[in-house]
Amino acid sequence: MCGIIGLVSKKEVSSTLLEGLKRLEYRGYDSSGIATISNEKIERVRSKGNLSFLEEKLLNSSLPGNIGIGHTRWATHGSPEEKNAHPHITDKVAVVHNGIIENNNQLRNQLIEAGVEFSSDTDTEVVCHIITSYLNTGLSAYDSIRATMSDVRGTYAFGVLILNEPNKLFAVRGGSPLAIGSANNENFIGSDTYSLSAYSDNITYLKDGDVAEIENDSYRIFDHSNSLVEREKQSIIESITLSEKGIFKHFMLKEIHEQPEVIAKSLSNYIDMDNGVLNIPNLPHDLSTITNVTLVACGSSYYAGLIARDWFEKFTNIKVDVEIASEFRYREAPMASNGLTIFISQSGETADTLAALKHCKYLGQKTISIVNVGDSSMCRNSDASLKIYAGPEIGVASTKAFTCQLGVLACLAIKIGTSNGSLSEYQEKEYVKSLLSVPRLISNTLDKEDEIKNLAHDLSNITTTLYLGRGQMYPVAMEGALKLKEISYVHAEGYPAGEMKHGPIALLEKDLPVFIMSPSNNLYEKTVSNLNEVIARDASVILFTDKEGLDNIGLLKNKIKAFVLDKSDIISAPFIYTIPNQLIAYYIALLKGTDVDQPRNLAKSVTVE
Ligand code: AGP
Repeated sequence: MCGIIGLVSKKEVSSTLLEGLKRLEYRGYDSSGIATISNEKIERVRSKGNLSFLEEKLLNSSLPGNIGIGHTRWATHGSPEEKNAHPHITDKVAVVHNGIIENNNQLRNQLIEAGVEFSSDTDTEVVCHIITSYLNTGLSAYDSIRATMSDVRGTYAFGVLILNEPNKLFAVRGGSPLAIGSANNENFIGSDTYSLSAYSDNITYLKDGDVAEIENDSYRIFDHSNSLVEREKQSIIESITLSEKGIFKHFMLKEIHEQPEVIAKSLSNYIDMDNGVLNIPNLPHDLSTITNVTLVACGSSYYAGLIARDWFEKFTNIKVDVEIASEFRYREAPMASNGLTIFISQSGETADTLAALKHCKYLGQKTISIVNVGDSSMCRNSDASLKIYAGPEIGVASTKAFTCQLGVLACLAIKIGTSNGSLSEYQEKEYVKSLLSVPRLISNTLDKEDEIKNLAHDLSNITTTLYLGRGQMYPVAMEGALKLKEISYVHAEGYPAGEMKHGPIALLEKDLPVFIMSPSNNLYEKTVSNLNEVIARDASVILFTDKEGLDNIGLLKNKIKAFVLDKSDIISAPFIYTIPNQLIAYYIALLKGTDVDQPRNLAKSVTVE
C-alpha cells in the first residue's frame, strides 16, 4: 500500500524525507517522490522503481526548503510510471495520497470540461486540481481542502503543501491512517508508527474527517465540523518491528482497523481503477465453460465461502457447493468433470484443505486457491492462485484476511459471470463500483467502535449467546459467533434465523443476548418475525441494520438495542455487518482478560488433521 511522509522544520527537509520513505519501503511500492516549497515555488523530484533511483536524482538536484512531503506509491489508478508518481502538483498545490477516490472519473471529466490539462492518470492529481480550483476562487488553504473533501468520495489520507501557506503542512484523514509525530522544533506526518518512530517519541493519530494545520513548533487539528479538537497523543513503542502493534494493544485490533486500507490495496490488484472493471490476471481455465463450482475451506475461510456462494450463484448462474474441508475430503463426493473447485485459506497450509485439494486434483477438477501467503503449499499445488494481499495477519483470529478473501471471491465470481455471459459489462461496472465503496463503508462502521465498546462492557459477563441472520447474514452470524468463541471463550452459536423455530428456540430465556444482523433487504421482514420470536421469550436483542430497517420496525425499536449501519447491497453488506462482530468479540475478550492474539488451544495455521 502507499506510504506518506511529511515534515515541517527549521532546517532543510529533503534528506530526512528520503530517509522516511526508506522506512515505508516495507509497504511495497513501484515509484516514489518528494516535493518541497522553496523560494516561493513548489519543487519536485520523482522516480519510477526503487528508492535508490530517487536518491540518485536528489544527489543531482537536491530539493531546498524546510517544508515538504514524500510518497511511496503502490499503483492503483494509472501505471507505475514516473508521470503517475506522487507528489502531484499544480502551480499552487502539492499532494500525496493513500487510498482510493471512488468518483475519480466523474471529477476528472468535470475538470477536463473546465479546461484542466492532466499530466497523469491518477486520482490524486484530480484532488490537486480541485484544491487549486478552490484556492483560485479566493478560499483559504484550509477551506479549499475542506471543500475538496466534500467533493471526493472514497478512502484517503492526504499530505498537502499550499504555496501561499509556506509554513504550514496540511494533513487530511478520510479512511486511511495518518498520524502526526512531534519532535524538537519540527513536526512530521506519516502513514504509520513505523515511519515516524525514528523521528518522534510520540504520535497523534488523526480521526476520519480531521484536517491538521501543522507548523514546525505547533499544530492544530480540526474535526469534520471544523471544531478545534485534541487527539490523544501516544508514546511510540520502543521496539518497533515491521508488524508492530503501533498504538494498538493487540495485533487483532490493529488488523481490524487496517481493513479499509488493506482491502483497497487488495482490490487494486484485481480491478482496473481507471475504467471501473475487473483486471484479473489470466487464469489457465476457460471460465466460460465451467458448469459447477465448489468452494472448500475451514473455519472463517469456510464462512467466507458461504457468503461468496450468493455472489457466485447470482453472478454466474451456476449452482455452487460450499464444503467444510475436513468433511469433504472423506466423503468422496462425485464431482462434475468440468467443475472448478476453489480452495480458500489464509495460511495456504491448512491440512484438511490441502488434502481436499489433492483429492480434487485426483478427480480432475480445475483448481484455484485464494490465499494470503503467496508461496504456500496450496498456492504451489493449485492450477492457479489469487493472493488476497492482506499483509501479515498476526492475530490468530482472522479479521482482515477474512474480508480480503471476500473481496477476491467477489471479483472471481464477477469474472466468471462476465466470462460465461451471465453478467453484462454494465452489471460488472455496478458490482465493481460497489466493491470500491467497501473500504469507505468499513471505515464508517469502525467509527462506531466506542458504541460497540460500551455494548461489550454491558455484555462482559455473558456465558452464552446466539447470532442470527438470513441469506448472507447467516454465514456472517456464524463468523461473528466464531470470533467471540475463539478469543473470549464464551459459548456462541451462529444460526439461520429461520431455523430457530425448529428447536434452538428452546434455548431462549430472559436476558439471553441474541445478535441479529439484517440490512433492509428482501429477507428483512422475515428476520423481523424471528426478532419478534426472540423478544416474545424475554431474550435481549442486539440488532444491526440500516436506517430503513430501523424505521420499519417502529415501536419495536424501544425493546431492543439497535445499531444503524450504512445502506448496503449484496456486495457490501457482508463486509459491513462483519465489522461490529469483530469489535464485539475483541472488546468482550479484552474485558475477560484472555490472550486475544494467541487464544488458548489455537494455532494460526492448523497444519495437522
Ligand atoms: C479464524 O478466526 C480461525 N483462526 C480459523 O477458523 C481459521 O479461519 C481456519 O483455521 C482456516 O485457516 P486458513 O484460512 O489458514 O486455512
